[in-house]
Amino acid sequence: MANIVIVGTQWGDEGKGKIVDLLAEHADIVVRFQGGNNAGHTLVINGKKFICHLIPSGILQGKVCMIGNGVVVDPEVLLQEIKSLSDAGIPIGPQQLRISDKTHLIMPYHKCIDHAREARKGGVKLGTTGRGIGPTYEDKASRHGIRFAELLDEVLFAERVESIVEEKNFYLTHFFSEKPINAGAIIEEYRVYAKRLAPFVTNVSAELEEAIKEGKQVLFEGAQGTHLDIDHGTYPYVTSSNTVAGNACCGSGVGPKTITGVIGIVKAYTTRVGMGPFPSELLDETGDFIQNKGAEFGATTGRRRRCGWLDIVLLKNAARLNGLTGLAITKLDVLGGLNTLKICTGYEYKGKPMREFPANLRVLEACKPIYEALSGWSQDIPDTRALKDLPDATRKYLKRIEELTELPIDIISVGPDRKQTIVKKNPFL
Ligand code: GDP
Ligand code: IMO
Ligand code: MG
Repeated sequence: MANIVIVGTQWGDEGKGKIVDLLAEHADIVVRFQGGNNAGHTLVINGKKFICHLIPSGILQGKVCMIGNGVVVDPEVLLQEIKSLSDAGIPIGPQQLRISDKTHLIMPYHKCIDHAREARKGGVKLGTTGRGIGPTYEDKASRHGIRFAELLDEVLFAERVESIVEEKNFYLTHFFSEKPINAGAIIEEYRVYAKRLAPFVTNVSAELEEAIKEGKQVLFEGAQGTHLDIDHGTYPYVTSSNTVAGNACCGSGVGPKTITGVIGIVKAYTTRVGMGPFPSELLDETGDFIQNKGAEFGATTGRRRRCGWLDIVLLKNAARLNGLTGLAITKLDVLGGLNTLKICTGYEYKGKPMREFPANLRVLEACKPIYEALSGWSQDIPDTRALKDLPDATRKYLKRIEELTELPIDIISVGPDRKQTIVKKNPFL
């Protein structure tokens, strides 16, 4: 029996959705445990593309999908996602989707504050996705949040909204010079969401306990990436939740002994959307080549992703922080056509090697990457289905990553489609 956590090792968009979809074949339940619709997880099945923002990426394998208490949900977006999957022939009812009654709701004022902060001249611009994620987690921590349990209680919900909106309006109008929001309109709007979503709401923790007792296997789907973690990432250029594997337990309501393996998803190079330091960033034609060939545009906001070489400092950090048991490498095909590949094996700070990933961003910004060069390959590999059929240089690149990270590469992805994958070791088998 296996219960596996999937996490991103870099700054998000590593291809978690593709690997979750692939491995979900062997799981009974797929659970999202943090983040919200800032995530964009792309699945491609026989050439058909689906993007999941909130619904776990196991949905196309017909598995039970759960949204844990650690997620923040915009009900409007969730209903749209349910509709667009239903329109594509994937009906989603309470049998397929379960939402924790402790999951916090993204409210209209959260989105207003997120936008107003980013737009404010002189403020720190983070390049957020503008989905209200940060303000929702802030309210959760300050005990001003509203959960599905309250949404389903009409009287309590109205009371909560009225008192919270009073404070939010003071902040919006006095600090940001924005228009006030109307509590009554929110109550009306959310009453409709409550009716539609009520059948999906449950105690996810209790349902998981029962399923695990019956011998069912669970796949925990992380969003964002290790270096966007609120504690361990490049703070303040991070998201507002813990993205590391430990939060799979907290964010879904299971104990740590439940987890049997943690797979870190590694893009064969590095990308980042939004602001923040990025030591191995390529601001030259090689960066443009990767950006173009990898179609590196955000699945949520459509922003151009910044691109750079693979950074082992990030991967070793991710290995420790998540307790990784194996790696899945994605987008290896994108590197085909480059004569030389570089791997950042360490950083140099003020002429001296830097052993650990620094917490101080000024230090990180001043770090210079130390590179090791490897030969590239010119062959196309998206149709390769066996490790032995990959070019020698490709296999050497993979072997070097295994040596440097001291972790096995269990899965190799050579294209966006589910079938464009080489599985060396399936964590569920
Ligand atoms: P996630 O947020 O970690 O799930 O990743 P995204 O879906 O945001 O971004 C990954 C992108 O790369 C998506 O467009 C995927 O379809 C695509 N992708 C995943 N694996 C591969 C691969 O091996 N090769 C190529 N060329 N594209 C891939
Ligand atoms: P997936 O799950 C890449 C980034 C944003 C911004 C920062 C804070 O698809 O890998 P937020 O809206 O969360 O307050 O923004 O985090 N970010 C992501 N970058 N992939 C994601 O998700 C991201 N989710 C948030 O670009 O820099
Ligand atoms: Mg993404």
